[in-house]
Amino acid sequence: MAVTAPLQEGQPEGENPLTEGLERLPVPPTTLVIFGATGDLARRKLLPALYNLAHDGALPERFQLVGVARKERAHEDYRAECEEAIRAFSRRPPDADVLKGLLENVRYVAGTFDDASAYRTLGQTLDDFERDAGEVLNRAFYLSTAPSFFPVIVRQLGSSKLAHHEHAAVRLIVEKPFGTTLKEAQELNQTVLSIFDESQVFRIDHYLGKETVQNLLAFRFANGMFEPLWNRNYIDSVQITASEDLGIGSRAAYYDRSGALRDLIQNHMLQLLCNVAMEPPVNFTAEEVRNEKVKVLLAVPQPTAEAISEMAVRAQYGPGHAGGEDVPGYLEEQGVPADSTTETFAALRLEVDNWRWAGVPFYLRTGKRLARKITEIAVTLKPVPHLAFSQSGSLGVRPNQLVLTIQPNEGVSLSLGAKIPGTRMIIRPVKMEFQYGTTFLSQSPEAYERLITDVMRGDATLFTRDDEVEAQWRICDPIVSSWAALPGPLPKYLAGSQGPEEAEQLLLADDRWRAI
Ligand code: BG6
Repeated sequence: MAVTAPLQEGQPEGENPLTEGLERLPVPPTTLVIFGATGDLARRKLLPALYNLAHDGALPERFQLVGVARKERAHEDYRAECEEAIRAFSRRPPDADVLKGLLENVRYVAGTFDDASAYRTLGQTLDDFERDAGEVLNRAFYLSTAPSFFPVIVRQLGSSKLAHHEHAAVRLIVEKPFGTTLKEAQELNQTVLSIFDESQVFRIDHYLGKETVQNLLAFRFANGMFEPLWNRNYIDSVQITASEDLGIGSRAAYYDRSGALRDLIQNHMLQLLCNVAMEPPVNFTAEEVRNEKVKVLLAVPQPTAEAISEMAVRAQYGPGHAGGEDVPGYLEEQGVPADSTTETFAALRLEVDNWRWAGVPFYLRTGKRLARKITEIAVTLKPVPHLAFSQSGSLGVRPNQLVLTIQPNEGVSLSLGAKIPGTRMIIRPVKMEFQYGTTFLSQSPEAYERLITDVMRGDATLFTRDDEVEAQWRICDPIVSSWAALPGPLPKYLAGSQGPEEAEQLLLADDRWRAI
């Protein structure tokens, strides 16, 4: 069954209680400073997101951008680089006037991140903007550099007196990864919070900016239908998959020191788990939503050394066939040491040990070079208690399954048992489906568009709080250390396949991995 567009004609915007008050917050005048202004993230995501916000008229009327990077460049040269990045990566072809308007407000500051004089030039540039504008602008500093520079930049912002402003809001945006262990995350939090107040800090997890991830909360808390079933009495298991068909590309230097657990599970996948498992917050403010998520993370028992081999599996892709071509295995990728023990696949079986979820397995699975790219959450209900049909009629009766597809083909599908037309009572599963594309007929904004606007508005709901990021590491840290202590080589899976056989070991009772 297809669902038709749910918005009533003439329904005023902002009537949705989930977002009431938030959507209408204005976007105040802001200067955004990107550290690492010529890096991959800035080029592929941040600049195109800014362009698309400008295209939608969603940037504040007065918006300035300052790029900071090591190499000397004229403002003009940096503007040309921004234009080239936007042309290459924007989700829509750029409109000449919009692009010109955006680029006019772009400046460049050269300097190494530990060089105090670069911060003096930066401060001067920000003051000049304000003098020209005749008003104060809020300031947002975006750390889009290699993570080792995060504390360096934060300290320099502190010592150059840029972290606070008497008349304007100053915000700090920190990209992932936020530490590579619990200890590092704690140290980074300490450094950041010795200079900034937590209310100024926006830790990015771009999954939270995805429309479909936000829709998870709408799905759960704007519908009376599922919430009564959303607990251990009716739900048998939850399976969260984030599979990718691509390999590591040119990111060996980063990826080989990270691996699948740190790259996707510690952040994005635990956020998905939180959105599935959290209690309804009292309201949708940043504090209440994040309080509920932290409670979920703290309810996940910290893996003990003995339990890890039972509840966590890792593997590496070998050579295979993907995307219509033969591809090398992980160990043959450029830049990867031939004896690397970095996992490109990780799967966990977790439990959320609280009143609502005790005993329900939460399976998490992610990997590079799997059969296809799909991110989904599959919630399997318990089987019906009794089958009154004849034996042959009962064969097609399966537990109901609700699948929330985060990407691609974003949507929701519910499997039901239905009678096959005919003279006998024979049942088979059918699907009721809602798809974003056909229902709303509009292109969703990129996650970074939403997140950058939220920072400018000062709304931290979709960002990870200090205790939240530490609670995520609390779960992953013992697995990271246990794996680091084990010798290689790792179990292998064929590139382009469903993943390693070893992943089957995690499944309880009749559970099965869904096909990727
Ligand atoms: C990033 C990881 O955080 O998320 C990448 O570093 C991964 O390795 C990416 O490919 C996946 O994001 P998305 O939005 O494509 O699902």
